[in-house]
Amino acid sequence: MSNTVTNLRNTMQSSPTTTANSSDDVIVALRTVTKSYPLGKTVVHAVRGVSLEIRRGEFSAIAGPSGSGKTTLLNMIGCVDVSTTGDIIVAGQRTNELTDKALTQLRLFKVGFIFQTFNLVPVLTAYQNVEFPLLLQKQHTKAERDAKVRSLMDEVGLSDRLQNRPGELSGGQRQRVAVARALVTEPAIVLADEPTANLDTETGNNIIDLMKRINSQRGTTFIFSTHDPKVIRRADRVVWLEDGKIAETPESLLMGH
Ligand SMILES: Nc1ncnc2c1ncn2[C@@H]1O[C@H](COP(=O)(O)OP(=O)(O)OP(=O)(O)O)[C@@H](O)[C@H]1O
Ligand SMILES: [Mg+2]
Repeated sequence: MSNTVTNLRNTMQSSPTTTANSSDDVIVALRTVTKSYPLGKTVVHAVRGVSLEIRRGEFSAIAGPSGSGKTTLLNMIGCVDVSTTGDIIVAGQRTNELTDKALTQLRLFKVGFIFQTFNLVPVLTAYQNVEFPLLLQKQHTKAERDAKVRSLMDEVGLSDRLQNRPGELSGGQRQRVAVARALVTEPAIVLADEPTANLDTETGNNIIDLMKRINSQRGTTFIFSTHDPKVIRRADRVVWLEDGKIAETPESLLMGH
């Protein structure tokens, strides 16, 4: 299938007029988004015109070779980076028009992040790491925070590790703490950049199982990037990037879709 047809298919899949869902269900929309980085006297074109719609409750993978723009795309969706051109709409807000303060609020209330290297704060306990986004939100009493942290730590199976610091936990346990931290604010969208890349296959599968369970139980939208064909096959939908553009997903990766 040609790229043009693939792009058309992507457009049609996400067009509100061609699906049963209304446009209210679109939680992330990208319209001809580009991102370029100046590099010395040249420019790196990391993302070169991506249009995409993600609906509420989707469990989507952004996949593609190293350097294809996966992290750049996730960072822009998560409002930690801005596009060079094109519009990005997250939870109904056009991010290009928001002030830094509004972007921070959008990130804090609507988006949860999970990283390849877990990114836990080493001096804080697991409990304190999970509580951290709630402290930033400044919306909850200590008792409310306590209930939320304990409930999430229970959900990820780490009730007995509340007082351990990250250095005292295995890789899989650290990533489960990171999943709890991403979810404790009940975000509409969770972005996960290669969440299983530093885990062995079985532990990585467990993390995907956990994400999938939360996706079906709570309806949280997940967008995760990965290189791993086994992880790609767990996604409901694959967005394949090549050289900063959406391209046709290799047939070998579509088995099971
Ligand atoms: N801050 C930056 N400055 C300059 N170039 C950058 C910057 N960030 C990313 N790039 C370039 O943009 C392109 C896309 O990078 P990105 O990190 O998004 O790829 P990726 O698909 O996540 O790769 P990987 O699978 O290796 O993580 C690469 O060519 C990269 O070198
Ligand atoms: Mg990356």
